[in-house]
Formats: sequence, structure tokens, C-alpha cells
Amino acid sequence: MDKLINQGTAWAALKKHQKYLAPVHLRDLFALDSQRFERFSIETCGLFLDYSKNRLTNDTLTLLQHLATEANLADWIARMFQGEKINNTERRAALHIALRNRSNCPISVDGKDVMYDVNAVLAKMRLFSNAVRDGKWRGYTGKPIESIVNIGIGGSDLGPAMVTRALNTYHHPRLQSYFVSNVDGAHLSETLAKLDPETSLFIIASKTFTTQETMLNARSARQWLINKLGNDKAVAKHFVAISTATQKVTEFGIDSAHQFEFWDWVGGRYSLWSAIGLPIALMIGQDNFEQLLDGAHELDKHFETAPLLKNLPVLMGLIDVWYSSFWGATTQAILPYDYTLALFPAYLQQLVMESLGKRVTREGNRVDYPTSSIIWGAPGNNGQHAFYQLLHQGTHLVPADFIIALDSQHDLPGHQEAVLSNALAQTHALMMGRNIEETRAELEILKSTSLQKGEIGKFDKLPHRVFPGNQPTNTLLYKKLTPAVLGKLIALYEHKVFVQSVCWGINPFDQWGVELGKQVASILLPTLQTDQEKTAHLGYDSSTKGLLNYIKIYRSR
Ligand code: F6P
Repeated sequence: MDKLINQGTAWAALKKHQKYLAPVHLRDLFALDSQRFERFSIETCGLFLDYSKNRLTNDTLTLLQHLATEANLADWIARMFQGEKINNTERRAALHIALRNRSNCPISVDGKDVMYDVNAVLAKMRLFSNAVRDGKWRGYTGKPIESIVNIGIGGSDLGPAMVTRALNTYHHPRLQSYFVSNVDGAHLSETLAKLDPETSLFIIASKTFTTQETMLNARSARQWLINKLGNDKAVAKHFVAISTATQKVTEFGIDSAHQFEFWDWVGGRYSLWSAIGLPIALMIGQDNFEQLLDGAHELDKHFETAPLLKNLPVLMGLIDVWYSSFWGATTQAILPYDYTLALFPAYLQQLVMESLGKRVTREGNRVDYPTSSIIWGAPGNNGQHAFYQLLHQGTHLVPADFIIALDSQHDLPGHQEAVLSNALAQTHALMMGRNIEETRAELEILKSTSLQKGEIGKFDKLPHRVFPGNQPTNTLLYKKLTPAVLGKLIALYEHKVFVQSVCWGINPFDQWGVELGKQVASILLPTLQTDQEKTAHLGYDSSTKGLLNYIKIYRSR
């Protein structure tokens, strides 16, 4: 059995170091070092990261660097960029970086340079998106397209939906986008109710073209269109597909000219840069889509070449490992103070948890340390009035990323200052807290004014008004969320996840855990579809059998 990372010297040293740092409050670290902000912040690729409000010192970083070195991080980064089959359980490369390899240097998989195919698909996307946007692509009855409906789930939905939402100020004025993912017919039917079949374009996005939710929604949407337009020939003008399974797309009835290909070396949750990004390109134009790729490429170059402790994804990844593996943090909050990033936490849930939610190493050995954090979050100001109470006074350690745009996408006076002041107030308060002496002093001032009004009751609530602080945060700043900046931001988190996976020795590019639910659902479905009131349901537990029978009896009435 290969040695687990926690059996190495760096891990042991970090454990010892954590014990030393555990009683130290963040406010003490700031008091001790007037240069702390300068020391623990970095600006690169148009992103500024302040990581000074973390429970770390120079020694911590040195030890984390040792850990990365023991895990051969530099080597793994090189292997990914060279197109090695680092997704060992599926025997595939993980080459999302090739999809945005704007310098076009050759990248080989099985001895073939993939850049020719990558560029050919980008060119096809350009032709198609231009035709739709310019109104030259017409629906079956001759009208230009007005609604773009992406049908997909997981990586074939979350990435494109998040980016399309984030870049809404770049949208074509005639076009409206919809993302249908849930197999609950409510999602599709609510969407269809808003559509005019004559002006709607459906994109069936599925890497495998077998995913139950997507295929059922796709078939229902096709039937709806045929019913509305009265001819199945209409499908050719209103349906396109994005998939690695071209044969299955043809069998579904979508002409090869309307298929956009990608490849098995693109993981679902890393695929928004591929043809899966077609709904983005349609909404914001191919030039802007390619700026998204340019931004990601710039970050890729930084990740590939910068020294470990000057490397943004490496720093953020190591800081996460520090909290998960040494401080027992089980969750991480993603808090965008940029409303256009409303879907970013949901997107990151898949990116992080599907990648890092693993319990065995690449070699299949059981790890005996925690891996992925549970990712959650919401746009900052909304979160403040919902769950921040727990961050301020609850009992959990919750490292949080504050993601902040300096410039807004609008020109309403006064709003951006409110956003910025709230974000900074929160990171300050989460770090500093308010100790008992400060609370008492504040109450004394309050008392002198309020007592005259007879408000005595609130002054015996001292412990309720104390804030422990010491909650760690990263603050990530950028000027404005342009396509290029968003590309950098997404690539930053993708690579951060990779760094964590290397430190923990796990494969971040497979997702076997999702399979079991899919398998069981596919066996249960025919059972629910039979007319028989009760079925034997051999092999199910008594709860599942009982529920199945309850549902069948109810539905048969
Ligand atoms: O939910 C698991 C998963 O395999 C994801 O990894 C993937 O993004 C999603 O399903 C959709 O798969 P497909 O694109 O093949 O329909």
C-alpha cells in the first residue's frame, strides 16, 4: 500500500503547528504584525487576494509548501498540462485547459494534437451563434429565434447557467435564455408555457446522451414542438445537440450538422469551456465567449508557472487543506458580493464536492482524513440577513470566501458603496469579533442614554452580545465582472480543487458516487410504471418496499 499523505513529515509538522496556533486569535496576529495585510495578499491576473484574515503565519505557509512538495504538486500540475491520463479510474486525460489554450501550443492525447478539433468546434460555434444572433437562422415557420432553451443537468447545466446569468449585461437584446434541468415535469412545463414554438431553439446538452433527466426532458420538448408546429420536420430547425456520443445524438434524430462535439477528456463539471458553452456563446456572442476562454487561459499560465507560494490557486487550495485537514472545518461558505454571481455557489457545489467528495486515494486506499468541505453560500447581502448569525455567534468554524466586484454592472448611485462597505464590515467583524470588555464598554455608553427611557432589561444580556470572532476569510477582489474576469475566477477555483486533490492523493475527475443512485432509479422506474397494484420488489429494504407499495396503491385509485 502506498503511503498516505498524513504519514509524511509535513503532515506531522502541520499537526504540531496547529496545536501551537490554536489558542492564538486572529486579532492577535494582526496586533503583532503591522505588515500582515501586505505580507499575506497577492495580486495577479487582475485578481487581488487578501488572505491575511486566515489563521496562518509565515511558518504555516512554509509547512503547507512542504506538504505540497511531498504530494508532488508541481509534478502533477505538469502532468495535467501535458495531457497525461491523470483521471486514472476512467483512463482519461483531464484537459479542460486545452479548451481554452489560446496560445494554441500543441497538446496531445494518445499522440494526437487535440487543438485542431478544439478550434474546429469553436469555429462551428461561431458560425452557428452568429447565424442565430443575426436572425439568419430561422425556425421552421421562417421566424428568427428568440428563446434559447438548454436542456441538461449537472455539468451540462450549472456552468453554462451560472455564466449566462453572470454576464447578463452582455446578452443579445432579442434573445432570452432558459435552463431546464429537473426531471420534475414542472420545470419543463413552466418553461414551455413561456415559449413560442416558432421562435424557440432547444439545445440538448449531455456528455453521455444517456442521462435520464435530460433525455426525458428532451423527448418531451421534442414532442411538444412537433405537436405545436404539426410536423416532425420542424425538429431540424429547433433542436441542436452537444455531446461526446455522436451516434446516440443521430439516433435521437438530430442531424450531424447540428451536433457540437466534445471529448471524453473533458469532465462534465469542467465542460463549460467546450461546446457545452454554446448557450453562453448564443447569449453573449462568440467574441465574448472567447474572452472568457482568454481569461481562463491567463490564469492557467499563472497556475502552470508561478512558484507555489506566489500561485493563487495553490495558495487558496493549501489554505483549504489547512482548515479541512488540521482544524476540522467541515464546511466552506462562498459569499459573492456581486449579485450577478448569484449562481456561483451552486456551480461550485458540483465543482468542489463532485471532485473532492472521495474516500479512497487514486490507488484505491481508504483515506483516514477528511476530504472535501461542504460548499454552500449565497450572495452576500442576502446571506447577512439569513445565515450570517451562525458565522458570527454559532459554534462552527466556517472559512469563507468573500468575492467582491469593485465596479458594478449598473449605474444606480449609492449601491456599490453599500455593497463594498457591507462586505468589508463583515470580514472585519468575523475576524475581530467583540470581546466581553468591548461589549461591556459599549453597553455602558448605551445605558447612559437608554436608562432615561426606562430600557433596563437589555443590559443584563452581556453574553448574548459577545462575538468570538476568529472566523477566517479570504477576500477576492476584481474590477468588474467582464467575460475575461469570470474566466479567470472559474479557472482559479478549478485549479484550487486540483491542488486539494493532489494534497489528499485523490482523483478529482471521476464521480463514481453518482452512479449508484442512477442505477437504482433505473431499476425502480419500471416497477412504478407497471399496472400491478403491488409488486414483490425483491431486493429492496422494507422501507423502500413499503413506500413503493404506498405510492402504487395511491396511484392506482
Ligand atoms: O451527476 C453526475 C454527472 O455525471 C455529472 O458529472 C455530469 O455533469 C452530469 O451527470 C450530466 O451528465 P451528462 O452531461 O452526461 O448528461
